[in-house]
Amino acid sequence: MDKKVTVIGAGNVGATTAQRLAEKELCDVVLIDIIEGFSKGKALDLAEAAPIEKHDAHLIGANKYEASTGSDIVIITAGITRKPGMSRDELISTNAKIVRDVTQQVTATSPDSILIVVSNPLDVMCHVAYQTSGLRKTRVIGMAGVLDSARFRAFISMELNVSVENTHAFVLGGHGDTMVPLPRYSTVAGIPITELLSKERIDALVERTANGGAEIVGLLKTQSAYYAPASAAVEMAESILKDKKKILPCAAYLEGEYGINGLFIGVPVKLGAKGVEEIIEISLRDEEKAALDKSADAVRDLLKKLKNSV
Ligand code: NAI
Ligand code: 2OP
Repeated sequence: MDKKVTVIGAGNVGATTAQRLAEKELCDVVLIDIIEGFSKGKALDLAEAAPIEKHDAHLIGANKYEASTGSDIVIITAGITRKPGMSRDELISTNAKIVRDVTQQVTATSPDSILIVVSNPLDVMCHVAYQTSGLRKTRVIGMAGVLDSARFRAFISMELNVSVENTHAFVLGGHGDTMVPLPRYSTVAGIPITELLSKERIDALVERTANGGAEIVGLLKTQSAYYAPASAAVEMAESILKDKKKILPCAAYLEGEYGINGLFIGVPVKLGAKGVEEIIEISLRDEEKAALDKSADAVRDLLKKLKNSV
């Protein structure tokens, strides 16, 4: 393949991301993990599936970063996950150290890459990667909105018994309890769901979306979600690798957009070969803007907590 993507963390999200990237023949994949042999084993296992899955993507597993040299995109999934009853925010100090460390190492060998951050708490980990990497703000992007919107779309499709392909949804804000699903901008075949569902049903779907991560942790107990998160990260990577310029909700660094300054938070962005090529500012009603501001405050507080702890 003429493109190369490094996935850091060969756990559930990382390995599934590597699998999807390879099976879609989007790029060669380097899978890196701190555990000796782990990423090599996963990469070899995936490579052995290639003849059956019919793809020619090369997969390499490594503990060191040389193999990742010259990557077009780096997807950071390294870190610990939450357990039932824990919030994403409780992962902050452990994951900040991990994200700082892996960002330093990977940007030394791939200084021109675009970083897609997945590790939680997402919006704050984007900050850590941005500050550590020294990359331009357009080249550090967080994955959360695509996942949260996919969950909302899945629930809309289940509720109305329509194809998921007919659904679109937008979830903005931080990747936490204060995320902001936007029913007005969520549609089925172009029809806003506000025309198709009662306020009570929409409220129920919005609440299920905001608790989507916790619902899966509650069921899996010892792990958190990874199939849908990997799909979301790969949709972002594909838009960049193919310069598709998809409009997707992603965590981007805002400098005044939506009245928010100096913060990564989920907003609609155009994703292309240069990374974040545009931040789309949609008009928000007072209550929607208030919800986004509340979510930004929560991310800002968490960022302060991290700064005070180091
Ligand atoms: P996992 O536990 O299955 O995998 C994490 C992997 O990271 C492990 O294999 C571990 O050895 C590796 N790792 C830890 N420190 C490392 C280091 N310094 N260098 C390289 N590798 C290292 O966890 P999973 O399910 O893959 O989740 C990974 C992260 O992604 C978690 O923080 C999780 O909360 C987050 N997440 C975020 C989502 C989002 O929407 N932004 C969605 C799903 C997960
Ligand atoms: C999720 O939403 C764990 O943040 C992850 O599933």
